[in-house]
Amino acid sequence: MAGASSSPARRSSWPVQVALVGLAAIPVIAGTMRLTEVFGGPHVMPANPRIAASPAPVVVHIVGGGVFLLLGAFQFSALLRRRKPNWHRRAGRALVGLGLAAALAALWMTLLYPRQTGTGVVLYLMRLGFGSAMTASIILGFKAIRRHDITQHRAWMTRAYALGLGAGTQAFTIGTGQAIFGKTVLTTDLSTASGWIINLAIAEYLIRRPNRRRAHDWRPRRRAELATST
Ligand code: HEM
Repeated sequence: MAGASSSPARRSSWPVQVALVGLAAIPVIAGTMRLTEVFGGPHVMPANPRIAASPAPVVVHIVGGGVFLLLGAFQFSALLRRRKPNWHRRAGRALVGLGLAAALAALWMTLLYPRQTGTGVVLYLMRLGFGSAMTASIILGFKAIRRHDITQHRAWMTRAYALGLGAGTQAFTIGTGQAIFGKTVLTTDLSTASGWIINLAIAEYLIRRPNRRRAHDWRPRRRAELATST
């Protein structure tokens, strides 16, 4: 029994979910404040005339992105997937729609809103690139699971989530970048883009690192094989 309870598949990954939800909370809180304002509540966020003039895409972006990040964090729990596979499947279907809505609204805002004050062409191109990459990753992740390719499904959904979570990492990269390099259009653009680049690099590392579960599982399996062969 002791062996079973310490099996990596049964081990809780809650610290990962806590970290992901914690980072996601940054854009979710900012977004909630913006939504409160859009729906007639007090103005607590910096004035944004582009949003005031055309609030629809930002509402879709914040609602889709916020739920995608909060609910999506639990899709990475092996314990939840194992114990409640239907939950993973049902939540996953909803998350495909929510993630696509968030990413497409991001592209909509990038293309149709007047350029954000203090940002330049670099961030414009990065938003187009990473917004498209998040859209493509969700579609590829969904197509992979339809053909039962779990490795590719995991890889593409990890990339999609990492890109979405860039909205949280940016709170740190923008603050740090501007503190070190000053507040210019280029430093703002590059430090904002760093949020996506850092997250994508971490995602690629996690996707490519050797599968620890398989490495762990090898020993008990091998022992069992030896026991039956003697
Ligand atoms: C690849 C992913 C993403 C891209 C390319 C992206 C892009 C954008 C763009 C273009 C804007 C409008 C900036 C402006 O002109 O004022 C924006 C604002 C915002 N986004 Fe995202 N975003 C992404 C993911 C997310 C996610 C997952 C969330 C989660 C809630 C989020 C939350 C926000 C918030 C709170 C704002 C600020 C709205 C305001 O000014 O009040 N974003 N994003």
